[in-house]
Amino acid sequence: MKHTKVKDLLNSTKPVDDVLVKGWVRTFRNNQFIALNDGSTINNIQCVVDFENTPAETLKRITTGAALSIKGSLVPSQGAGQKYEVKVAELEILGDSDPEKFPMQPKKHSFEFLRENAHLRVRTNVFGAVMRVRSVLSFAIHQYFQERGFVYVNTPIITGSDAEGAGEMFQVTSLPVGNPPLNEEGKVDYREDFFGKETNLTVSGQLEAETYAMALGQVYTFGPTFRAENSNTSRHLAEFWMVEPEVAFNDLDANMDLAEDFIQYVIKYALERCEDDLKFLDQRLADEEKQKPANERSEMGLLEKLQFVLQNNFKRVSYTEAIDILKNSKSNKNRKFNYIIEEWGADLQSEHERYLVEKHFKSPVILFDYPAKIKAFYMRLNDDGKTVRAMDILFPGIGEIVGGSQREERLDVLQQKIADIGIDEKELWWYLDTRRFGTAVHSGFGLGFERLVLFVTGMTNIRDVIPFPRTPQNAEF
Ligand code: 4AD
Ligand code: MG
Repeated sequence: MKHTKVKDLLNSTKPVDDVLVKGWVRTFRNNQFIALNDGSTINNIQCVVDFENTPAETLKRITTGAALSIKGSLVPSQGAGQKYEVKVAELEILGDSDPEKFPMQPKKHSFEFLRENAHLRVRTNVFGAVMRVRSVLSFAIHQYFQERGFVYVNTPIITGSDAEGAGEMFQVTSLPVGNPPLNEEGKVDYREDFFGKETNLTVSGQLEAETYAMALGQVYTFGPTFRAENSNTSRHLAEFWMVEPEVAFNDLDANMDLAEDFIQYVIKYALERCEDDLKFLDQRLADEEKQKPANERSEMGLLEKLQFVLQNNFKRVSYTEAIDILKNSKSNKNRKFNYIIEEWGADLQSEHERYLVEKHFKSPVILFDYPAKIKAFYMRLNDDGKTVRAMDILFPGIGEIVGGSQREERLDVLQQKIADIGIDEKELWWYLDTRRFGTAVHSGFGLGFERLVLFVTGMTNIRDVIPFPRTPQNAEF
């Protein structure tokens, strides 16, 4: 007999005589009521034990975390709170869980404690919900692009280039760390390394994706990326997943349209497919907000915030306009910002991004046309000679969720920019070839997947939306 998922039992429209259900005990009350969960839904099925006819030995082993197999009948529930419950006929303990030792007891645990138990935290309601939403969002991403004829490209994880030119890379080497071979100049001889050259984990699949866009038209990548930036914040991971569409013949406006439409689509998809989980997370956030002083509470609940993003256009604002707004803001004049905006050209910190989104515009914002000096080398230079066709999408509570641009398609301009940042253009010969042969206007962006999951689930720390987070000083599991 095949077992039925808890979700299907709960959705049943009629009683069923014989059911088999398997799952893990969440709670066991009054020696009678088992709340059983199998991960198919946030909701538990109540299984009612006939305790008078069950050996005391068995009852003792029904503890939080234990794995059970239960045969019985699905009957209308006597109690409030559920339509159906399982009347237990046969109960088998598949795996015991010592209540003295099992860390996930049915009480409130701190997120910090749960991070230390990342292999077990998924057995809690919050993490079960977050990980199901994460899974649905990944599928939505593929669905969005596949429906529109984009080709999914798997770009390499080990690369020989620094796509962002920021030098925040994890090196990949098979040379002995303490005793590497040296060349004539006394430096590490990478000719003897595994790939015969210096290599690193990719920081972005963009450069390779661009070469594919220049043949397949519309492509996207969706894979892990790695950054050795020592940012111990609630928004940064050393290993995160990025979605990077790249489209031939799109200019920056088309790029913005695509990003906005894409984000709205995947959020809508999650709202439709994850109703129970999102309702639960909405309530979780509301409870958390209640603990805060009134002036720090967010104005909208989670579901309200998601609806807001669907119903409102993102505000499109140039960097120059944004700097004016920030310069004239009270926070700047009263020196409330940690970094005071003095002049045009300043890099925006997350406090500035959040001011624009949360205080000034009260809506998602797309900032565009940034100073060339603070952006990557591959962005298209504007006619003013000092700004580039960059765009960042800023979200409430998150800050930057998307970074993208129209790419510099002119060979000579690109060569100059590469020279300016001190990279030998020979290293990027293949990238420059796309500008040598059939170059064309093209654009793309990168969406930080975990930042999207943060936004949709209302979680506040990025370590809580990826199964096993990698951050400075932490690679457990
Ligand atoms: O702005 P970034 O660095 O842009 C790129 O990598 C481009 N190559 C993308 C492209 O145009 N194809 O990163 C893109 C997004 C950011 O907006 C942010 O959401 C996320 O990736 N991101 C991170 N997420 C988690 N942890 C980190 N350390 C992140 N760094 C960037
Ligand atoms: Mg960026």
